[in-house]
Amino acid sequence: MTVPSPVDPRSVPVRTLRSGAQLPAIGLGTFGSDHVSADIVGSAVRTAIDIGYRHIDCASVYDNERAVGAAISAAVADGVVARGELWISSKVWNDEHDDVAAACERSIRDLGVEHLDNYLVHWPFPNHHPPGCDIDERNPNAVPYSHDRFMATWAQMESLVERGLVRHVGTSNMTVAKLELLVADAHIQPTVNQMELHPHFQQPELFEWLQERQIVPIGFCPIGSPQRPERDTTPEDSAPTEDAAVRTVAERLGVHPAVVCVKWAEQRGQIPIPFSTTPRNMAANLEAVTTAPLTDDEMAMLTAADRNCRLIKGQVFLWRDGQPWTDLWDEDGTIAG
Ligand SMILES: NC(=O)c1ccc[n+]([C@@H]2O[C@H](COP(=O)([O-])OP(=O)(O)OC[C@H]3O[C@@H](n4cnc5c(N)ncnc54)[C@H](OP(=O)(O)O)[C@@H]3O)[C@@H](O)[C@H]2O)c1
Repeated sequence: MTVPSPVDPRSVPVRTLRSGAQLPAIGLGTFGSDHVSADIVGSAVRTAIDIGYRHIDCASVYDNERAVGAAISAAVADGVVARGELWISSKVWNDEHDDVAAACERSIRDLGVEHLDNYLVHWPFPNHHPPGCDIDERNPNAVPYSHDRFMATWAQMESLVERGLVRHVGTSNMTVAKLELLVADAHIQPTVNQMELHPHFQQPELFEWLQERQIVPIGFCPIGSPQRPERDTTPEDSAPTEDAAVRTVAERLGVHPAVVCVKWAEQRGQIPIPFSTTPRNMAANLEAVTTAPLTDDEMAMLTAADRNCRLIKGQVFLWRDGQPWTDLWDEDGTIAG
């Protein structure tokens, strides 16, 4: 397969963390949605680096960190990139909140690096599910959110920074209510919060809360995750790539609607981390953040496209029978018990 022309990584915008560290304003996602093999994701990572990506979003639960690590090591060994030019993040899975160091050390080993640039708590609940499970699967030991328990996990995250294993720490799937508690008690503040963000789910309140505190929003499912696992689909879901405003802009630019989702995300101020194993799509997504910005009218039209349509509802992390998934998301500002 012919690899498309590389995008100059220096032309990719960056975001600056409160520490002063800078990271590329687009990353490659590596979750194969339970159906793309580790080897295919690994070769996608290598292609992405060849094309010009310098930011890779990993997680131990994606079950492909060894393949991703092999791709990174090969790219470094081949002289395509220096380790210091890459931003590599990973996440501790829900069943390792009590032993974060072991989880982090394993990710570091699997990824073949000496440190991670960022390490995130994947979900604020210690509730987990087996890979490939369906929407009704529940962990019998699942519990509601506990700030004390989360802070015990966060203290372990802070130790990793002190040991030099990770440069920064961050959160994922948090809410304003939970983050307010964390920032009040943390010794080391979160640098980023990874959250679902696309034109049909813009989370303006949380987004602005983060921006005001210099916590960078990282947007997952930026394209609406068309291949997401069955457990994350419900009949009321909508697809941002089918949105009329997204399609109008795509037509003007002569690109796929997915590319508009990525471009809008970067221009709005979050860091999108689109997944792709198709070199042409990877290249189009990377190029999108280097070309002329969307007009103010287009940005306004895309803001108006918000439908508050959360796709990754997280049902499998609930802790009571018959509980609504909204209990995970503190929509009225209260943490459900
Ligand atoms: N923190 C969390 O809890 C969490 C949750 C979900 C996801 N994530 C992270 O976010 C990443 C992205 O989310 P996601 O993978 O669910 O979904 P996504 O990035 O919204 O969508 C990926 C899909 O879009 C297609 N695509 C990508 N670029 C395209 C283009 N230019 N034109 C047409 N189609 C395109 C891909 O197909 P091709 O492969 O054919 O290009 C793939 O099927 C994950 O990989 C993971 O790293 C984190």
